[in-house]
Amino acid sequence: MAEHLIIHTGDKAERYATLLPQLSALVEAETDSIANMANIAACLWETFHFWWVGFYRVMGEELVLGPFQGPLACTRIRKGRGVCGTAWAEARTIVVPDVEQFPGHIACSSASRSEIVVPILRDGVVVGVLDVDSEHLATFDETDAMWLERIAALIAPIF
Ligand code: SME
Repeated sequence: MAEHLIIHTGDKAERYATLLPQLSALVEAETDSIANMANIAACLWETFHFWWVGFYRVMGEELVLGPFQGPLACTRIRKGRGVCGTAWAEARTIVVPDVEQFPGHIACSSASRSEIVVPILRDGVVVGVLDVDSEHLATFDETDAMWLERIAALIAPIF
């Protein structure tokens, strides 16, 4: 397993491109999903210093908080509720440039201004979501969506 995270100093696409193979190596070396989610959240935080980055797992009719980096977060989210519950219900990535404009957004932290939620899909079924929050407006775009979906795909088989 990698002992030190290598962080590219360039733009975000370069940072993601440097990060992905390191996450792939971590996941290949460890079968425990909690350990992998914890390290993925840590590596995303170390690379980008996002306000909040972490996982929710589908458990019955709710998403339940998993490993994350950042402030205290709500522990359970029902299907269809908030950005996370909508990404689950619709099985698609949701980019929210301004959380105040998203009906039903769940404000775990009043400092959060924009958000992206990527579903983790196994055999076409959502088994969890990767949620990233920013304290700035319009932080996330198609570049984040593409790379975070690749990261979600890494962890899906062992989720
Ligand atoms: N804002 C999310 C809730 C999770 S926290 O941001 C960590 C939502 O609306 O689903």
